[in-house]
Amino acid sequence: MAKPCKTAILISGSGTNLQAFIDAVASGGLSLELAVVFSNNPQAFGLERAEKAGIPTACIPHTDYPDRATFDRALIGELEPFAPELLILAGYMRILSPDFVAHYSGRILNIHPALLPLYPGLNTHQRVLDAGDKWHGSTVHFVTEELDGGPRILQGRLEVQPGETAEELARRVQAVEHRIYPEAAAWVGSGRAKFLNGQCWIDGKLAEEPVIFDY
Ligand code: GRF
Repeated sequence: MAKPCKTAILISGSGTNLQAFIDAVASGGLSLELAVVFSNNPQAFGLERAEKAGIPTACIPHTDYPDRATFDRALIGELEPFAPELLILAGYMRILSPDFVAHYSGRILNIHPALLPLYPGLNTHQRVLDAGDKWHGSTVHFVTEELDGGPRILQGRLEVQPGETAEELARRVQAVEHRIYPEAAAWVGSGRAKFLNGQCWIDGKLAEEPVIFDY
């Protein structure tokens, strides 16, 4: 069997998606090596989750650095000893510098709580409710320099319920994220999904649209 892909997970907060990866690997359902968890926020609860799971952690506060480019160079310095082949952004609340994205080109994944290209940015659940949309969900995509704009791999979709609040919707979307993110990462880790020439390829075919799982 192929060696599990060496993976770094970057967080800034609670880390429920990180926990989903930890649980999936522990249960044998996900073949990744969780090599390091990095946070830019020393208070991030996700660091405790990682320590409890026996995963090495690294933390450097971005506030110690004069600008994004300098911080991201220090971040590369933290990650390189672990030689990560895949980077998972899991609630990592920092925009990445172009040099960082280029350094790990095609090897960074993000999850965004909306059906991209709809609703990039923040406050997605309320925006979906305000627009009266029928569908909402979450998207796993490759990271490029364009914020929330890289090629999409997998979307988890659900129907908005009448009278649902933004908090209720957020909880349901998060439960979907915990299922689709490890799945999409497994596809990339195994080479089933690939980033080539700025596009997503799945099973050797150009994926102009993401795979959609309905929940
Ligand atoms: C997720 O909802 C994800 O879509 C967004 O940040 C949130 C992270 O949550 N990018 P958690 O820290 O994994 O609980």
